[in-house]
Amino acid sequence: MRSELVEKRSHAIRDMFARVANRYDLLNHLLSLGVDMHWRRRVTRRVVRAAPTVVLDACTGTGDLALSLGKTERVIGSDFCLPMLRHARRKTRQRGSGLGLAAADALSMPLRDESVDVVTVAFGVRNFEDLDDGLEELIRVLGPNGLFLILEFSKPKGIFAPILEWWARRVLPWVGKVVSRDSEAYVYLPESIRTFPEGEEMCSLLREHGLVEVKMVPLTWGVATLYEGVKPRRG
Ligand SMILES: C[S@@+](CC[C@H](N)C(=O)[O-])C[C@H]1O[C@@H](n2cnc3c(N)ncnc32)[C@H](O)[C@@H]1O
Repeated sequence: MRSELVEKRSHAIRDMFARVANRYDLLNHLLSLGVDMHWRRRVTRRVVRAAPTVVLDACTGTGDLALSLGKTERVIGSDFCLPMLRHARRKTRQRGSGLGLAAADALSMPLRDESVDVVTVAFGVRNFEDLDDGLEELIRVLGPNGLFLILEFSKPKGIFAPILEWWARRVLPWVGKVVSRDSEAYVYLPESIRTFPEGEEMCSLLREHGLVEVKMVPLTWGVATLYEGVKPRRG
């Protein structure tokens, strides 16, 4: 079954996340058996090493990654889905965090050129209506020598690949539907992973967008991959 949502119209993506927002965190931890927290910690460690002053976590969703960057002077979590942001705001208050939240489309950020030191996007770029436009916009707000980090699902490799693919194709849509009561979102998830650029293809794309020192680290048999690149200084 091919989900029409793989066409990725922004309004359809926003509506889909709005429908699952209440169950999003629970399903994340359940479907990844808690490994998603380990993946976000990898990103956090990389950000902390870069010692930035301002971090933008685009597509922040319910804010888990942005909230884990607490030691950074200023963290902005942005997303275009208000129900997801509401959960981020609740957690921000509960934890007494100074996280700043903004309702914004990643393809048109209300930020000045080169105004942040690090941009992170966890499981967000796969949903962009236009991937090139989204990358260009996020790289626009990144300062010279700034670090761009993308955490995204990829296709599993190695001996566990058949089991993990079975899990994604059969178990995940079923559990997702039962828990979220939404029939589309968790069909869209494996389908969007299958059709999204990954590995070297993604690295080449980041280079085409002008980033240097591009690297990738496959995580958990390649179920997710952490990509990084640096925006070069001009001149
Ligand atoms: C799979 S969730 C990831 C949330 C969070 N980063 C995490 O790691 O759990 C994807 C999020 O990206 C947001 N999103 C997708 N496309 C977006 C866009 N063009 N602009 C802003 N947010 C977007 C969705 O609203 C959703 O909250």
